[in-house]
Amino acid sequence: MFRKLTFTAAAVLAMTAVQVSAAEIETEIEDFAFSFEGPFGSFDQMQLQRGLQVYTEICASCHGLELVAFRTLHQEGGPALPEDQMRAYAEFYEVFDQSLLGGEGDFRTATPADKFPGSALSNAPDLSLMAKARAGFHGPAGTGISQFVNGMGGAEYIASLLAGYAEEPECALEGEPMDGYYNVAFAPGGFPESCIDEHGHRMVPGSWIGMPQPLYGDDVEYADGHSTELDHVSQDVSAFLMWTAEPKMMARKQAGLTGVIFLTLLSVLLYLTNKRIWAPHKKKH
Ligand code: HEC
Repeated sequence: MFRKLTFTAAAVLAMTAVQVSAAEIETEIEDFAFSFEGPFGSFDQMQLQRGLQVYTEICASCHGLELVAFRTLHQEGGPALPEDQMRAYAEFYEVFDQSLLGGEGDFRTATPADKFPGSALSNAPDLSLMAKARAGFHGPAGTGISQFVNGMGGAEYIASLLAGYAEEPECALEGEPMDGYYNVAFAPGGFPESCIDEHGHRMVPGSWIGMPQPLYGDDVEYADGHSTELDHVSQDVSAFLMWTAEPKMMARKQAGLTGVIFLTLLSVLLYLTNKRIWAPHKKKH
């Protein structure tokens, strides 16, 4: 009886071990150095403006940003477009307004108070919060310490994803053709049997994603003359998406810093007070 029990326990253990190794998907996430990382980091306004341009010219044909209001493009700490430019940008969009035509609804030109439209392609996810939904670079053994030091990490993931398209590996060409596109940073996509070895391990990193490669480098022309290499364009749009997901990051960091300075000062004062209170008693010895 006891023997049988240990045997089942071992079997269960073995099974979970197999499951764990099967679920372990290797991806290649690069640790880019973004301006907003670290306790003193802040968004680079020019980078956010370039990212907005990339989003508008390329990503918006499929993806929405339905939680982001146009007026926030003018806010300090963000892309901070001049007000007239922000208004002109909003007017470039049409939104559906239910209150028009006596409740029937109709399209009208967007105003700063309106939000970006949702995704134009039904299977393309909305990108408003994507940079927070996806953690990028966890650091060694996924401790999360890197996230704490280097920022949220989602921007790293998105930049790596955009630059992570690669040629289909040999092993994939041997099996059934795959739906989608091979990407070394994407984990949850399809994966061909022919790339899994006899121990159940994946022979190549990443998986197959439904999004065709959106950026190749030189996709846009920047007014500020910044490089349009694939890595740079990917980082710009990722920084912009980090801002849409956490527009108040700067304010949060500042509040945190103020708190730390205040507490440091308070500790010094309390230390001195403490010394003073006990000084007469200490002298007696
Ligand atoms: C042709 C349409 C199309 C374009 C253009 C496009 N995407 Fe996508 N994107 C998709 C689809 C479809 C998916 C869902 C893929 C899947 O889940 O397999 C997706 C998924 C994503 C994801 C989520 C990946 C994940 O972890 O689930 C991100 C991030 C993303 N796109 C960013 C971008 C950015 C940034 C751009 C512009 C540079 C862009 N996309 C341009 C269609 C598009």
